[in-house]
Amino acid sequence: MFYYNCLNPISRVGLGHFDGNYIMTDNPKAADAFLVRSAKIQAEDLPESCLAIARAGAGVNNIPVDECAKRGIVVFNTPGANANGVKELVIAGLFLASRDILGGAEWVRAHRGVDDVAKLAEKQKKQFAGHEIAGKKLGIIGLGAIGQMVANAAVHLGMDVYGYDPYISVDAAWNLSASVHHVKEVDNLYRDCDYITIHVPLLDSTRGMIDHHAISIMKEGVIVLNFARDVLIDEDALVEALHSGKVARYVSDFANPTVAGLPHTLVLPHLGASTQESEDNCAVAAVKELRAYLENGNIRNSVNYPNCDMGRCEAASRVTICHLNIPGMIQKFSKAINDFGINISDMTNKSKGDYAYTVLDLNTPATEELLNAITENEAVLRARIVK
Ligand SMILES: NC(=O)c1ccc[n+]([C@@H]2O[C@H](COP(=O)([O-])OP(=O)(O)OC[C@H]3O[C@@H](n4cnc5c(N)ncnc54)[C@H](O)[C@@H]3O)[C@@H](O)[C@H]2O)c1
Repeated sequence: MFYYNCLNPISRVGLGHFDGNYIMTDNPKAADAFLVRSAKIQAEDLPESCLAIARAGAGVNNIPVDECAKRGIVVFNTPGANANGVKELVIAGLFLASRDILGGAEWVRAHRGVDDVAKLAEKQKKQFAGHEIAGKKLGIIGLGAIGQMVANAAVHLGMDVYGYDPYISVDAAWNLSASVHHVKEVDNLYRDCDYITIHVPLLDSTRGMIDHHAISIMKEGVIVLNFARDVLIDEDALVEALHSGKVARYVSDFANPTVAGLPHTLVLPHLGASTQESEDNCAVAAVKELRAYLENGNIRNSVNYPNCDMGRCEAASRVTICHLNIPGMIQKFSKAINDFGINISDMTNKSKGDYAYTVLDLNTPATEELLNAITENEAVLRARIVK
């Protein structure tokens, strides 16, 4: 039986993925696991019983990740769980930037009550007409969870899609439509595409990535979409290009004083992942990660411990150990187990930065004495009998 505490309201769809072995508690001091969205967590408020924290979302700024690692608390997030919400808005952005849908609708609204509005509309509609996206070249920078979904959807809409991502994951590459052209030099994407959309994380290496040079080699009248982070674009260079017409339209999900109300822009108030479905998907992913860890000791999408998947425990017993990433640990664990005359049937050891994680499947049920022998080692941060 496990007790969990929600530090924010968490989608009921997500919580529905806990089974009868899980009890929600209002008392944080009694919790084995926490679910959180934006609430700020202080390390000193976490009880000794806390084994894991799952953030329903991608960012973990509100969680003391390193303090948790030191205490053997595994912190999870849910990257990509909100990708569909963002993808849908990017596709909407492509259409809104191509045809003046908003301008046309506004024109009709302004003619409310005018008797010959239908006749007038036929005369005026040309100014809102725009063009279709099928057959146009779309360049996508970053083919992760969101970028690859945008790429595949755009292929289905008949666009000619070009993707640039020197660090693409194997999974993302497998999921990508074979029709997406592989771009090796980002400058070629800037030069050739009618639409450019960016989906990279904000890193020192990507901040201001779409700079003066990038914009200068883009096609005249290019449309730029940014649903990743505003600071990925040099906005001074962008404002200049919007004034000159080099960039015909800029669609962004990030309102800030520079772009709010600027002509030729369509700026949204960070709507990308703010759907109920995105919240549900993040909560489902968070609950599944907690269950995989609590029930079998498997780690997927942790920000402070390595990924590790030993599957369901079929052995007599499974012991998991969070420890410092220093030499000789496996030898010490093996010796401790050997001293109890127990045989190891399977094991794995993974590391991430300063921390490591070992899973041991044993042929004989593990005892508290064995656990104490393992935890005597100062480099062991937490050990647990999972089964
Ligand atoms: N608008 C919103 O509401 C919203 C919601 C979720 C995520 N986001 C943002 O969208 C962006 C993408 O999110 P994601 O979930 O797809 O991330 P992800 O980590 O799944 O994918 C990012 C991809 O960018 C690639 N990349 C990294 N550096 C690159 C570079 N220099 N050039 C080209 N590619 C590079 C990586 O290899 C990876 O494939 C992030 O900036 C994220 O913060 C926005």
